[in-house]
Amino acid sequence: MAFEFERLQDTSDSKARLGRLHTPHGVIQTPTFMPVGTQATVKTLSPEEVKAAKSQIILANTYHLYLRPGHELVKKAGGLHQFMNWQGPILTDSGGFQVFSLGALRKITEEGVLFRSHLDGSKHLFTPESVMAIENALGADIIMAFDECTPADADEAYARQSMERTHRWLKRCAAAHENEGQALFGIVQGGMFPDLRLESIHRTLEVDLPGYAIGGLSVGEPNEVMYDMLDRTADELPKDKPRYLMGVGNPDNLVEGVGYGIDMFDCVQATRIARHGAFWTPFGRENIRNAKNEDDFSPLQEGCQCYACQHYSRAYIRHLVQAKEVFGIRLLSVHNIYYLNQLMEDLREALRDDRYQAFRARFFDQYS
Ligand code: GUN
Ligand code: ZN
Repeated sequence: MAFEFERLQDTSDSKARLGRLHTPHGVIQTPTFMPVGTQATVKTLSPEEVKAAKSQIILANTYHLYLRPGHELVKKAGGLHQFMNWQGPILTDSGGFQVFSLGALRKITEEGVLFRSHLDGSKHLFTPESVMAIENALGADIIMAFDECTPADADEAYARQSMERTHRWLKRCAAAHENEGQALFGIVQGGMFPDLRLESIHRTLEVDLPGYAIGGLSVGEPNEVMYDMLDRTADELPKDKPRYLMGVGNPDNLVEGVGYGIDMFDCVQATRIARHGAFWTPFGRENIRNAKNEDDFSPLQEGCQCYACQHYSRAYIRHLVQAKEVFGIRLLSVHNIYYLNQLMEDLREALRDDRYQAFRARFFDQYS
């Protein structure tokens, strides 16, 4: 069987689990972090660099690739793996997030979402059926159902309406999904209402799928609200299927999320903050532009085994960023992705030894 989740070990002091996800393009150790390659590239890095930064799987976006260069072209190239020369596992998000971020440019109906391209203003309709056809053409190992990412400020009536529509769409996605080789994941919504989230889980589970995701979190609500939602609902998802928390997160969110039983995360932050000169270390987020780095010839993070830290100093990277040289952003991106992947590897080791709480305490002792 090409797609299979093995739950290797549970923990006694949290809901965290250690696992292994088999896909047609390789095995993923979980919990895991997935760097985002929206336009079929993890911004500024080659696939070799993404892999060397310990990435096991990357994410790409249906919305962007459909608009440009078009899913038919990607299919003609032999699929996304071939097109972008990434031979590891790939997950495509459905556009259920991007399309809803377009605001005034979109209209939601039962049929789907009518939207205008952010590129040229042209009109398009996404339906559960059309999104499945696009994701089938792109050919990722894991494809996400077409959902509505409910806004954080939605009232209960709207959150319910949106959640119910997402479930009707999920049934249509499952019916339209044609490629047995791709694993379709359903997405739980429900806004910031725990009862709606529980109901969403139970309805999503009516469709038997190889994995389930939690959407509509980290959309502007305080961290505490997100953690409360996860605490009350994440463990209601099946124990023997992978659980994916969409669009999360920062290092602290990853450490907490694992404790609530999440297996997969994705976030654009690693490469986005790099473009702003920022990077993570065990002590938190810093900016390389800071004057104290001007003549600091030590690496971004003492002891880090990433390519950037192995070869370059803070002073040099600061100089590159100040001079607006792209190599500076590349080095910060390499470090940030490596940092998150190493954090997940360290977490997996802690889970193996059943010391999640000790790991968490130590992490937050340092991180600010
Ligand atoms: N990325 C972050 N949140 C979401 C969500 O709720 N739905 C989808 N499809 N993608 C997301
Ligand atoms: Zn590093």
